[in-house]
Amino acid sequence: MTAALGNPSDLRKQVLSWGAENLRDLPWRRTRDPWTILVSETMLQQTQVSRVVERLAVVLDKFPDPATCAAATAGDVVTVWAGLGYNRRPVMLHRAATQIVADHAGTVPSSLKDLLALPGVGPYTARAVRAFAFELSGAVVDTNIGRFYARIYGRKLSAREVQQFADEAAPEAHPWLWNQSVMELGALVCTKRSPSCGACPVRDLCAWAGEGADPAQGSAAVSVPQTRFEGSDRQLRGRLVDALRASPVPLTKIAATMQTDANRAEMVLAGLQRDGLAVVADSHARLP
Ligand code: ADE
Repeated sequence: MTAALGNPSDLRKQVLSWGAENLRDLPWRRTRDPWTILVSETMLQQTQVSRVVERLAVVLDKFPDPATCAAATAGDVVTVWAGLGYNRRPVMLHRAATQIVADHAGTVPSSLKDLLALPGVGPYTARAVRAFAFELSGAVVDTNIGRFYARIYGRKLSAREVQQFADEAAPEAHPWLWNQSVMELGALVCTKRSPSCGACPVRDLCAWAGEGADPAQGSAAVSVPQTRFEGSDRQLRGRLVDALRASPVPLTKIAATMQTDANRAEMVLAGLQRDGLAVVADSHARLP
């Protein structure tokens, strides 16, 4: 097996010094404000970095803190989320803000337990907030990091193994730099399709090193290709939510708005209602 298994100190040193030199200057790396980190990490979960860079300031301008967000309607948060997709996220963010105000006096909590109790906050986001806002130790695991460890160990890993190996590799010190660096290494060097193994600071510790079948394929925590968007429910949901951002839509126009038939439109609308993304009253659908 790799040196990384027995003695993580080489891996640590090499990743940290690479990160200190190579981290991109991104807006959420210039702040330690917990709300900004919670919002940006929520956006980054399913939206590409360049799009988040464009939209983050707009969202934070409108909702600079949990109290402002909680005082708005869920619909207001969905409205400012335009262009980011996966519209369940702003609904959950609004619920999280409401809970932060109710249970934590408007301050984003720092314990893993309190963070995990927030709506929409899973293990990734909770650990990201701890490391990136509070400099608290704990290994963040996202798709980049899952891919990185599968390759370092040279085999498909289970979800437990990824978290365990990430925890073992993480130093107690510098949780911010450590987690940003591993993530960035995955994003810039240990990329999904054409990794730059020649430029990798931990190539000598990597069981895979680009030779043979990619162990990250099918490994836990590594994202699978998205299903086709064209013709999907997701596309129809997006169309209706986009229309609702502008104004309520009469139920008689729902199907036309989604460009589908009445049965499917009804089913998709019901899903949006279940997810807290639409309410129906007075023969209109509207944002909550
Ligand atoms: N993707 C998710 N979190 C990120 C971060 N903090 N920096 C860059 N890309 C990310």
